Formats: sequence, C-alpha cells, structure tokens
Amino acid sequence: MVTIGIPREIHPGEKRVAATPQNVLKLKKLGFEVAVESGAGASINASDAQYKEAGAGVVKDAASLWATSDVVMKVRPPEGNETDLIRDGGWLVGFMWPGQNRDIVDKLAKKNATVFAMDSVPRITRAQKMDTLSAMANIAGYRAIIEAAQHFPRFFTGQITAAGKIDPAKVLVIGAGVAGLSAIGAAKSLGAIVRAFDPRSATKDQVASMGAEFLELDVKEEGEGKGGYAKQMSDDFLKAEMALFAAQAMQVDIIVTTALIPGKPAPKLITQGMVESMKPGSVIVDLASEQGGNCALTQPGTVVHHKGVSIVGYTDFPSRMASMSSQLYGACVTAFLEELRIATPVSKGDAPEPVALLEPAKAPDLDLENEVIRGAIVLDRGKMLWPAPVKELPPPPEPGGHSKEPIAVAKAAAHGADDGNGLNPIVLVVLGAVLILLGFVVPDSKLSHFTVFMLAVFVGFQVVWNVKPALHTPLMSVTNAISGIILVGGMLQLSGTLNVTTILGAIAVLIATINIAGGFLVTNRMLAMFRK
Ligand code: NAI
Repeated sequence: MVTIGIPREIHPGEKRVAATPQNVLKLKKLGFEVAVESGAGASINASDAQYKEAGAGVVKDAASLWATSDVVMKVRPPEGNETDLIRDGGWLVGFMWPGQNRDIVDKLAKKNATVFAMDSVPRITRAQKMDTLSAMANIAGYRAIIEAAQHFPRFFTGQITAAGKIDPAKVLVIGAGVAGLSAIGAAKSLGAIVRAFDPRSATKDQVASMGAEFLELDVKEEGEGKGGYAKQMSDDFLKAEMALFAAQAMQVDIIVTTALIPGKPAPKLITQGMVESMKPGSVIVDLASEQGGNCALTQPGTVVHHKGVSIVGYTDFPSRMASMSSQLYGACVTAFLEELRIATPVSKGDAPEPVALLEPAKAPDLDLENEVIRGAIVLDRGKMLWPAPVKELPPPPEPGGHSKEPIAVAKAAAHGADDGNGLNPIVLVVLGAVLILLGFVVPDSKLSHFTVFMLAVFVGFQVVWNVKPALHTPLMSVTNAISGIILVGGMLQLSGTLNVTTILGAIAVLIATINIAGGFLVTNRMLAMFRK
C-alpha cells in the first residue's frame, strides 16, 4: 500500500500542516496508508491521538517519517536537511515554486525524486478542487481585512448614535483576483463602502456582484493574459491607474493591494506621496509583499507605521488562520493525489493490487497527457519536466456577449444572411411566393389556422433567437408552462358520457397540468440561481 507521510513543517513561524485528521480520514478512504510526524498538528490543535483516531500511524521523528513514506505531503518547499531525508526515488507533493527554488529541485533530482508543485496546478475549471493557490488567496483576502481592522481605529460600518454620526469606512481594493474578491466580501460584510480596480474587464461584473463599486480608467487596455491571469500593463496604463489611486488615497481609509502578474515582481502602485496623502489612522495591507510589494514603503513580514498610516506587509496570512488553511490545503492535495491514481484500489473484497511507487515495475505510469498532472510535475524520477509546455488557449469571448465562433455558426445557419435579423432576402422572397401559392390551394376553413401557425413560427423564432443561450433552459421551461392550450382542449372533451374521447381528454388534462406546474417550478429554480 502507498504510504503518505505528513511531517511537521519546519519553516519558522509556519503553523499549517499538510493534512488535518479530517483529511486523513479521506486519504484512508481512498486506499492510502497515512503516517504523521508526532506533534505535526500541534499549532492547529490537532493532537497525535486525533490523528491516530483518524487512522494514521504516528512516527516519532522526521527522519523515520521521511524514511518510511512513499509520498511526502508538505506545505512549504523542503528546507534544511529535508532534501537529504527524502528516500531515493521518493515522491513529494507540496508548494515548490520551482522557478525560485532551483537549488532545492536540483538536490531532489539527485535523489531521483518525483516531485509535484501544487503552485503549478493550472487554474482551470476542472482543477478547481486542487487549486491550493486560490484556497490560500481566499483566506489571505479575508484575513487582510481582519488585520486592517486590527490597526484601523474606527468602525467599518457607519452608525448614527446619540453621541453623534460615524461615517462608514471607505476601502479600496486594488486587484480583484481571488484574494481581492475575498477582501471585498469581508469588507462589505463589515459594513464598509468598497471600491475596487482591476485591469481585467472580466472582473467588473464580479466586483459589482459583490456590492462594490468598480473604478474605471479612460485608457482602454485589456489586462487579460494567459490562463486567467493578468498581463503586464503598458506604462501609459500604469501611469493612469496611479493617478486614479493618488486621488483615491486622499478619500479612502483602507487600501488592500493584491496586484500580481505571475513570475514578475509586484508592480509598485502606491508611492510614498500617496501614503502621506492618506488620513492619519489609515491602513494599507499589501498582499503582494512577498513579491516586493505594491506599496513603496512595504516591508515584507512586518508592519510599518509612516506618518500615521500603518502598512501591513505580512507574508503569512493563511498561516494566521492555520487550522482552516490546513484543512483546505489538505483537501486540495488529497484531490490531487486522487487525480494521480496511485492509491491502492481495494474493490469488493478483492486483495489490493500491489502498488509500490518506488519500484518501477510495480508503480503505475503517470498520465502526462492529463493537463493537471503535466502542469504540476516538476521531476519524474529525477528528470526535470518543469515548466510544462504552454498550451494556446482559444481567444476570450468578445465583450458584449457572443464569441466569434457562434456568430460564424449563426451566419452560416442563415445562409449568408446580411441583414440585422439574420434572414436572407432571397429566402424571404421564395418563402413569400410559397405562402401566396398555398393561399390559393389551401381550403378556406384551414386558412386561418395556417395564418396563426405561420405567425407563431415567426414570433417563436424571433423570441428564441434574441435570448442569450444561458437563458434557454428557463425560457424553454416557461414556454412549457404556457403551452397549457392542451389543457383547454382536454377540458372541452371532458363533458358527456364516458368514452374513449373523454378518457383521452382526462389524460391530456393530467399531462398538461404536470407540464404547466413542472415548467413553472423549473423556471423558478433556474431563476433563483441568479437571484441574490
Ligand atoms: P490573482 O492572480 O488571482 O489576482 C491578482 C490580481 O491582480 C489579478 O486580478 C490581476 O488582474 C490584478 N492586477 C495585475 N496587475 C495589476 C495592476 N497593474 N493594477 C491592478 N491590478 C492588477 O492572485 P491572487 O491569488 O488573488 O493573489 C493576490 C496576491 O496575494 C498575490 O500577490 C499573492 O502572492 C498574494 N498572496 C499573499 C499571501 C500572503 O500571505 N501575503 C497569501 C496568498 C496570496
């Protein structure tokens, strides 16, 4: 059976652990053996006994743990003697930052290790449950507001009391990625007035949906880069946004900065002058401090007080909420281990298949076609595989709704239509001629039905064609509901003696009623998903 080892994190001040007892339960369920270093969960209040109860073995020291584990699950990249402790050919999963930690990767390569960097898991929809970066950034954004509240000498919410009126605090969030949106949510829930800025236009609706005001610039430049991240902005753009922040700095009480372009130093967006223009008691929380900071005065890892303004540059926000961070981190890594398919399959009483990761003959092959595994793998039995080759993504949909592809399809469907309604004039003329001919042929009694039918086709087409595809399901369900005309027909047949017609009428009434009630029910459920 594959043994997952969870050592105590040795980085100074690191309180997180790669798996909580709850995560251990899930790992065991997947078919792993789990070993935990004694005291690994001490700073999240998880005792050795709790780990044991969850099914893990407790190993007394780090050396024995590394020596007996097939896969070591860590939070921070290995440091100190950890690169020596790993078994020859051993596996390691955790944050690695391979670009910045080349020396560590080289040492692990010499031990023929297989290493996966959780920080390199691609940010794609399918990999959301393995996205440790987003899980941690979400916590960091929330905690940024809590730290701001710690240094801010006033309420966040406005109040009118007998003692006087208190204005609500004004918060500016720069960068509306995962951490930024989480900070917006936390600040709004405390009652502050929140504004936000981001160069990616896709964030505008997200900011608005959280009840914050999205600040805009006159300079038009799209910030969307590859893989959902921002691209490096032009100097003109940076100048314009800094002018905006200079004006905002004089008005707001708290600034949370999260601006980041992966692999680049953080853009300096808040100058010393802007800090000095803020009201005394104001707070800046610089989440980008580890990458050099978005504020000129940030000092990573500490709080600086400058002319009455506190600048918080902590680099360990998730570790400040260690038990929750560990739980979410552990869940993401567990999902990643599941994706690797290295657990011993135990199916319906069969003897477990032998899986020995460290023995090439018995170890399962890694699926390098799987983009999540390919993105995260750093070393495969000592062979450097990072970074993964960049895959070209399709262009993002154009603002205003439809992407280029559906427009092309729609036009093709209309046989090269060139008018606004998407109908070809030649088709219209032919259709008109056919209708006139039918008018001569069809008996008078049927003509009115035929006219109604044609009108229904025309109106139906126009209605459906102009509705966004996302709303087609609610639309279909509501049309179902109003197709109750069958009900009227069925009811008309119900009078008189019991015969085949009345029975069919009754069945029609029953089915149409289900159709109507079900249609409205589904519509309501669909629309509830869009309501707050
Ligand atoms: P993200 O990539 O989701 O968000 C970054 C946002 O910054 C993006 O929306 C991007 O469009 C925006 N941005 C880029 N250039 C900008 C510019 N010139 N002006 C304004 N916005 C700009 O990243 P995520 O996951 O939200 O993380 C945000 C930051 O928080 C990162 O620097 C990350 O390293 C940091 N972080 C810090 C932690 C700590 O303990 N200090 C913990 C977790 C994350």
